Amino acid sequence: MTLATQLLDWYYENARDLPWRQDKDAYKIWVSEIMLQQTRVEAVKGYYQRWIDRFPTPAVLAEASEQEVLQYWQGLGYYSRARNLLAGVREVCAAYGGEVPEDEQLIRQLPGVGDYTAGAIASIAYNRRVPAVDGNVLRIFSRLFCLESDISKQATKREIAGLLHRHMPDSSPGDFNQALMDLGSMICIPRRPRCQVCPLSNLCEGYAREVQDTLPVRPAKKEP
Ligand code: ADE
Repeated sequence: MTLATQLLDWYYENARDLPWRQDKDAYKIWVSEIMLQQTRVEAVKGYYQRWIDRFPTPAVLAEASEQEVLQYWQGLGYYSRARNLLAGVREVCAAYGGEVPEDEQLIRQLPGVGDYTAGAIASIAYNRRVPAVDGNVLRIFSRLFCLESDISKQATKREIAGLLHRHMPDSSPGDFNQALMDLGSMICIPRRPRCQVCPLSNLCEGYAREVQDTLPVRPAKKEP
């Protein structure tokens, strides 16, 4: 079996039941990914549901006042995320008829959307075979391929994005990306990874060499 098949089989048995996974609407995925940028899953759930109930589409959000939008964000912090989201849906309404574009490069140009978020939206909502590299993915791939390069370096991130792209399946790339998020939060956790129950342990070079606990390599601390 391939890495993708093993990971997806595990995901379909063990995926977390999260409110933003009930629907592949690109706007809803966008909202969830922005909320999740700096906030934990458990905290996001309630905010996400209230937001979608009040602002179910880009058009509804685009018509809202900044003051009301910030009220719905109150407590999540990093308020520029909410301002960017509002500016973003206004752009989507003005330039794309109220539909989030399918092309990852166009999604990437929306305010507040970086490479990770663009990859997540394009793969989850539009089945595009696009990587979404976050800290979970850097950790998982460092261990799987026993990479000892510093994960804070752009070159390492590019290398891992390349490996990830090579292993992405043609069908369900969004599930593949979300499976990595779940693996990173439930199994391949930062400290004491749960290799005994990992669906990829038979493929993991870090595990084979018993160095998984020492990976990923982080930047050297500066002398005080
Ligand atoms: N963290 C960031 N995006 C996520 C998603 N779609 N599901 C779970 N955790 C996430």
